[in-house]
Amino acid sequence: MDFDQLYLHSKNLLSKYGKADKSSLTEDRKIVWIGKQPLFTKKMEIAGHDDQVIKAIATEIYPTHDYILICGGNTEINPHRDATYALPEAVSINLGGMAYFDHEDGCKWLKHGDVTAFNCKKLHAILEADLDRISICIWRKNPKW
Ligand SMILES: [Fe+2]
Repeated sequence: MDFDQLYLHSKNLLSKYGKADKSSLTEDRKIVWIGKQPLFTKKMEIAGHDDQVIKAIATEIYPTHDYILICGGNTEINPHRDATYALPEAVSINLGGMAYFDHEDGCKWLKHGDVTAFNCKKLHAILEADLDRISICIWRKNPKW
């Protein structure tokens, strides 16, 4: 996988289609849902942006995934557990800048090209992040949602 190309492609998607994230856990974060977007409060999903490059990479990393979220801007996020839409097994791809990933099971600095599988039902956060950092998060839908 060419992470430099993936970074540039994601950056382009964010600049064209990125929307302000309304989450209270973040500030100045831009997001694009690829494929499908879960609407947390309404317990339903709508179409996201269609992008074959991102879908192919997500399928390679997490073949049974349902949701893909690209985040840019200020990607710092306060400690939280991901909501009921998702199963515990989540994967993140760290691109561009560095980020400090804080997780109940252990903390680490993420660098360009790091792919991290983690349990999203345990407390996690991004406590520091470079402003040129982009993350791609991939989840599988919780069938009970
Ligand atoms: Fe999360």
